[in-house]
Amino acid sequence: MSVVPAGLEAALPAAAAEIEDALDMLLPKAEGPEARLFEAMRYAAMGGGKRMRGFLVLEGARQFGVARASALRVAAAIEMLHAYSLVHDDLPAMDDDDLRRGKPTAHIAFDEATAILAGDALQARAFEVLAEEDTHSDPAVRAELVRCLARAAGARGMCGGQMLDMLAEVADRPLDEPAIGRLQLLKTGRLIEFSAEAGAILGKAPHALRHALAAYGRDIGAAFQIADDLLDATATPEEAGKQTGKDAGAGKATLVGLLGLERARIQADRLAQQARDHLDPFGERADLLRELALYTVQRKS
Ligand code: IPE
Ligand code: IPE
Ligand code: MG
Ligand code: MG
Ligand code: MG
Repeated sequence: MSVVPAGLEAALPAAAAEIEDALDMLLPKAEGPEARLFEAMRYAAMGGGKRMRGFLVLEGARQFGVARASALRVAAAIEMLHAYSLVHDDLPAMDDDDLRRGKPTAHIAFDEATAILAGDALQARAFEVLAEEDTHSDPAVRAELVRCLARAAGARGMCGGQMLDMLAEVADRPLDEPAIGRLQLLKTGRLIEFSAEAGAILGKAPHALRHALAAYGRDIGAAFQIADDLLDATATPEEAGKQTGKDAGAGKATLVGLLGLERARIQADRLAQQARDHLDPFGERADLLRELALYTVQRKS
């Protein structure tokens, strides 16, 4: 039996294909003297990934009747930013991984310098796309998207969380539960929160609804990282498309390490349910988002 709930089973791959087309359109073609950089950007951002963050943007935007073309540009931008975070996360100086999305990591397929530059350029392109007029006719909406993604990705977001993740590897004492929760909120939660909130920004949604989507995103973000840590402990590299069984040996601070598989799984399920509760102000239109909360913790890759 498939673990992907019925509606999502069709909707997620369909959205992924649309996002792939948007990335193809928005990323530079691999030609000219810098072709190696462009090729590495495409290699890292295209041809794989669940596209969960992009899907969140599209489904959030759908709640407010946002034009599909606008939502797709924002979905592609968040997937570029996410791909950059993965390229850098896999570098020898960080998690030192050689497999990502079932393929050699960018620094293995190319080289370290190219991978670093491709990550940098993917990040820059993400912000450029958000700022371009085609993303939204109202410059205030574009500025708000840029501001919120910058905050989610930067020192008080993903980068800050990645710093805590690296520091935990060499800390004298293991992190306690609140400290791990904060680490995961920053390194994974903030980008997922932004992804869920972006559609409300695009749709100039009322504060309460924007707030509800952000809270939903925060909870599935937390559940998502626990599920990732569970996969590290339980999945094969073939299933996950990346090396597994590495976190414990590397000294990563995870709830799986602190609480064990069973209690970590219960915590993830609880967060997924809590995420769904935030969708109460939305009607049936948010059913795919409800399913996505379950998929987040039931996924096998
Ligand atoms: C992996 O994210 C990195 C984490 C934050 C756990 P995903 O599991 O969403 O990776 P892709 O995009 O599907 O490859
Ligand atoms: C990475 O977390 C989160 C990022 C900000 C990229 P992990 O290091 O656990 O992600 P994987 O397992 O390599 O995908
Ligand atoms: Mg990491
Ligand atoms: Mg990693
Ligand atoms: Mg992991």
